[in-house]
Amino acid sequence: MGIAGETTLTDGEIARIVVDRRRIARRVSELAEEIVETRPGAELTVVGVLTGALVFLADLVRRIPCPLRVRTVTVQSYPGEAIRSRGATVGLDLPSDLADRHVLLVDDILDSGDTLKALRSGVRAQGPASLRACVLLRKDRPLLPDRTDAEFVGFDVPDEFLVGYGLDFDGLYRNLPDVCVLSRHTPAGETRP
Ligand code: IMP
Ligand code: MG
Repeated sequence: MGIAGETTLTDGEIARIVVDRRRIARRVSELAEEIVETRPGAELTVVGVLTGALVFLADLVRRIPCPLRVRTVTVQSYPGEAIRSRGATVGLDLPSDLADRHVLLVDDILDSGDTLKALRSGVRAQGPASLRACVLLRKDRPLLPDRTDAEFVGFDVPDEFLVGYGLDFDGLYRNLPDVCVLSRHTPAGETRP
Protein backbone atom coordinates (compact mmCIF):
# COMPACT_ATOMS: atom_id res chain seq x y z
CA MET A 1 0.00 0.00 0.00
CA GLY A 2 1.29 3.49 -0.86
CA ILE A 3 1.83 6.18 1.75
CA ALA A 4 -1.45 7.89 0.92
CA GLY A 5 -3.50 4.72 1.34
CA GLU A 6 -5.53 2.73 -1.10
CA THR A 7 -4.76 4.85 -4.14
CA THR A 8 -2.94 4.27 -7.37
CA LEU A 9 -0.06 6.51 -6.29
CA THR A 10 3.47 5.29 -6.16
CA ASP A 11 5.23 6.10 -2.90
CA GLY A 12 7.73 8.48 -4.52
CA GLU A 13 5.12 11.03 -5.57
CA ILE A 14 4.16 12.09 -2.05
CA ALA A 15 6.76 13.63 0.26
CA ARG A 16 4.57 13.43 3.35
CA ILE A 17 1.05 13.62 4.70
CA VAL A 18 0.27 17.02 6.25
CA VAL A 19 -3.27 16.30 7.51
CA ASP A 20 -4.53 12.73 7.48
CA ARG A 21 -8.08 11.60 6.79
CA ARG A 22 -8.95 10.96 10.45
CA ARG A 23 -7.97 14.45 11.55
CA ILE A 24 -9.84 15.88 8.57
CA ALA A 25 -13.01 13.97 9.48
CA ARG A 26 -12.85 15.09 13.13
CA ARG A 27 -12.25 18.71 12.22
CA VAL A 28 -14.99 18.78 9.58
CA SER A 29 -17.47 17.71 12.27
CA GLU A 30 -16.21 20.43 14.63
CA LEU A 31 -16.43 23.07 11.91
CA ALA A 32 -19.99 22.03 11.08
CA GLU A 33 -20.92 22.36 14.75
CA GLU A 34 -19.36 25.84 14.99
CA ILE A 35 -21.11 26.92 11.80
CA VAL A 36 -24.51 25.73 13.00
CA GLU A 37 -24.18 27.08 16.54
CA THR A 38 -23.21 30.55 15.36
CA ARG A 39 -25.51 30.81 12.36
CA PRO A 40 -27.28 34.14 12.10
CA GLY A 41 -30.47 32.68 10.62
CA ALA A 42 -32.36 29.40 10.42
CA GLU A 43 -31.39 28.59 6.85
CA LEU A 44 -27.99 28.69 5.17
CA THR A 45 -26.89 29.04 1.57
CA VAL A 46 -23.56 27.30 1.14
CA VAL A 47 -21.52 28.36 -1.89
CA GLY A 48 -18.71 25.92 -2.68
CA VAL A 49 -15.74 27.03 -4.74
CA LEU A 50 -15.07 24.57 -7.55
CA THR A 51 -13.20 22.53 -8.19
CA GLY A 52 -10.96 22.35 -5.13
CA ALA A 53 -13.68 22.52 -2.46
CA LEU A 54 -15.71 19.70 -3.97
CA VAL A 55 -14.66 17.02 -1.50
CA PHE A 56 -14.69 19.27 1.57
CA LEU A 57 -18.07 20.70 0.57
CA ALA A 58 -19.62 17.25 0.25
CA ASP A 59 -18.33 16.17 3.67
CA LEU A 60 -19.15 19.45 5.41
CA VAL A 61 -22.76 19.86 4.28
CA ARG A 62 -23.57 16.33 5.42
CA ARG A 63 -22.51 17.34 8.95
CA ILE A 64 -24.73 20.43 9.05
CA PRO A 65 -28.18 19.46 10.33
CA CYS A 66 -30.10 22.61 9.41
CA PRO A 67 -31.99 23.65 6.29
CA LEU A 68 -29.49 24.62 3.63
CA ARG A 69 -29.10 25.17 -0.07
CA VAL A 70 -25.93 24.21 -1.92
CA ARG A 71 -24.62 26.43 -4.68
CA THR A 72 -21.28 26.39 -6.48
CA VAL A 73 -19.03 28.90 -8.22
CA THR A 74 -16.06 28.29 -10.47
CA VAL A 75 -12.80 30.08 -9.75
CA GLN A 76 -9.53 29.38 -11.47
CA SER A 77 -6.29 30.79 -10.17
CA TYR A 78 -3.79 28.01 -10.77
CA PRO A 79 -3.85 27.28 -14.50
CA GLY A 80 -2.15 24.03 -15.52
CA GLU A 81 1.05 23.30 -13.67
CA ALA A 82 1.24 26.64 -11.84
CA ILE A 83 2.05 26.37 -8.14
CA ARG A 84 1.52 30.03 -7.31
CA SER A 85 -1.80 31.77 -7.77
CA ARG A 86 -2.01 33.74 -11.01
CA GLY A 87 -4.83 35.91 -9.70
CA ALA A 88 -8.34 34.76 -9.00
CA THR A 89 -10.88 34.84 -11.81
CA VAL A 90 -14.42 34.37 -10.57
CA GLY A 91 -16.45 32.58 -13.23
CA LEU A 92 -19.64 33.98 -14.60
CA ASP A 93 -21.53 31.32 -12.70
CA LEU A 94 -21.64 33.06 -9.31
CA PRO A 95 -25.20 32.32 -8.15
CA SER A 96 -27.37 35.40 -8.61
CA ASP A 97 -29.96 34.63 -5.93
CA LEU A 98 -27.95 35.45 -2.80
CA ALA A 99 -29.82 38.61 -1.77
CA ASP A 100 -31.18 38.32 1.80
CA ARG A 101 -29.58 34.88 2.23
CA HIS A 102 -27.24 33.77 5.00
CA VAL A 103 -24.30 32.87 2.78
CA LEU A 104 -21.40 30.62 3.73
CA LEU A 105 -18.53 30.50 1.22
CA VAL A 106 -16.64 27.20 1.35
CA ASP A 107 -13.17 26.82 -0.14
CA ASP A 108 -10.42 24.26 0.17
CA ILE A 109 -7.50 26.53 1.00
CA LEU A 110 -6.73 30.15 1.73
CA ASP A 111 -3.41 31.16 0.22
CA SER A 112 -3.02 34.76 -1.02
CA GLY A 113 -6.66 35.41 -0.13
CA ASP A 114 -7.39 36.78 -3.62
CA THR A 115 -10.04 34.17 -4.31
CA LEU A 116 -11.94 34.87 -1.12
CA LYS A 117 -11.62 38.61 -1.58
CA ALA A 118 -13.05 38.44 -5.10
CA LEU A 119 -15.85 36.16 -3.99
CA ARG A 120 -16.77 38.25 -0.98
CA SER A 121 -17.14 41.35 -3.11
CA GLY A 122 -19.21 39.46 -5.70
CA VAL A 123 -21.55 38.11 -3.04
CA ARG A 124 -21.71 41.37 -1.09
CA ALA A 125 -22.82 43.23 -4.19
CA GLN A 126 -26.01 41.15 -4.09
CA GLY A 127 -26.95 42.20 -0.56
CA PRO A 128 -26.85 38.93 1.41
CA ALA A 129 -28.37 38.85 4.93
CA SER A 130 -24.97 37.69 6.20
CA LEU A 131 -21.70 36.51 4.68
CA ARG A 132 -19.19 34.17 6.26
CA ALA A 133 -16.43 31.98 4.86
CA CYS A 134 -15.05 28.58 5.79
CA VAL A 135 -11.79 27.11 4.51
CA LEU A 136 -10.39 23.73 5.36
CA LEU A 137 -6.79 24.94 5.17
CA ARG A 138 -5.08 28.28 5.71
CA LYS A 139 -1.51 28.64 4.47
CA ASP A 140 1.04 30.35 6.63
CA ARG A 141 1.90 33.55 4.71
CA PRO A 142 3.52 35.93 7.24
CA LEU A 143 4.38 38.40 4.48
CA LEU A 144 0.69 38.96 3.80
CA PRO A 145 -0.57 40.39 7.12
CA ASP A 146 -3.55 42.10 5.46
CA ARG A 147 -4.75 38.97 3.74
CA THR A 148 -8.51 38.44 3.63
CA ASP A 149 -9.39 35.91 6.32
CA ALA A 150 -12.08 33.30 6.84
CA GLU A 151 -14.40 33.08 9.85
CA PHE A 152 -13.95 29.29 10.03
CA VAL A 153 -10.59 27.58 9.48
CA GLY A 154 -9.93 23.87 9.67
CA PHE A 155 -6.13 23.77 9.86
CA ASP A 156 -3.24 26.18 9.60
CA VAL A 157 -0.68 24.62 7.28
CA PRO A 158 2.86 25.43 6.15
CA ASP A 159 3.49 27.34 2.93
CA GLU A 160 4.03 24.33 0.70
CA PHE A 161 2.17 23.10 -2.35
CA LEU A 162 -0.47 20.66 -1.16
CA VAL A 163 -2.57 18.07 -2.94
CA GLY A 164 -5.32 15.66 -1.95
CA TYR A 165 -8.81 15.91 -0.44
CA GLY A 166 -9.86 18.02 -3.42
CA LEU A 167 -6.60 19.92 -3.94
CA ASP A 168 -4.90 19.29 -7.26
CA PHE A 169 -1.71 19.72 -9.18
CA ASP A 170 -2.50 20.11 -12.88
CA GLY A 171 -5.87 18.43 -12.29
CA LEU A 172 -4.45 15.36 -10.57
CA TYR A 173 -4.45 14.06 -6.97
CA ARG A 174 -7.85 15.42 -5.93
CA ASN A 175 -8.91 11.89 -5.01
CA LEU A 176 -6.23 11.35 -2.35
CA PRO A 177 -7.99 10.98 1.01
CA ASP A 178 -5.23 12.83 2.92
CA VAL A 179 -3.77 16.32 2.41
CA CYS A 180 -0.18 15.76 1.26
CA VAL A 181 2.93 17.53 -0.02
CA LEU A 182 4.02 16.50 -3.49
CA SER A 183 7.64 15.44 -3.55
CA ARG A 184 8.53 16.87 -6.94
CA HIS A 185 7.12 20.39 -6.59
CA THR A 186 7.76 22.97 -3.90
CA PRO A 187 7.23 26.70 -4.24
CA ALA A 188 10.73 27.45 -2.98
CA GLY A 189 12.32 30.19 -5.05
CA GLU A 190 9.06 31.20 -6.72
CA THR A 191 8.08 34.84 -6.68
CA ARG A 192 5.12 35.46 -4.40
CA PRO A 193 2.05 37.30 -5.53
P1 IMP B 1 -5.66 32.26 -3.20
O1 IMP B 1 -6.58 32.98 -4.14
O2 IMP B 1 -4.22 32.57 -3.45
O3 IMP B 1 -6.06 32.39 -1.75
O4 IMP B 1 -5.73 30.74 -3.58
C1 IMP B 1 -6.81 29.99 -3.24
C2 IMP B 1 -7.06 28.94 -4.29
O5 IMP B 1 -5.85 28.47 -4.89
C3 IMP B 1 -7.68 27.76 -3.61
O6 IMP B 1 -9.07 27.82 -3.84
C4 IMP B 1 -7.04 26.57 -4.28
O7 IMP B 1 -7.89 26.11 -5.28
C5 IMP B 1 -5.78 27.07 -4.89
N1 IMP B 1 -4.59 26.68 -4.07
C6 IMP B 1 -3.91 27.45 -3.21
N2 IMP B 1 -2.88 26.77 -2.65
C7 IMP B 1 -2.94 25.53 -3.18
C8 IMP B 1 -2.13 24.36 -2.98
O8 IMP B 1 -1.17 24.28 -2.19
N3 IMP B 1 -2.49 23.27 -3.71
C9 IMP B 1 -3.54 23.27 -4.58
N4 IMP B 1 -4.31 24.34 -4.79
C10 IMP B 1 -4.01 25.48 -4.10
MG1 MG C 1 -9.87 26.79 -5.42
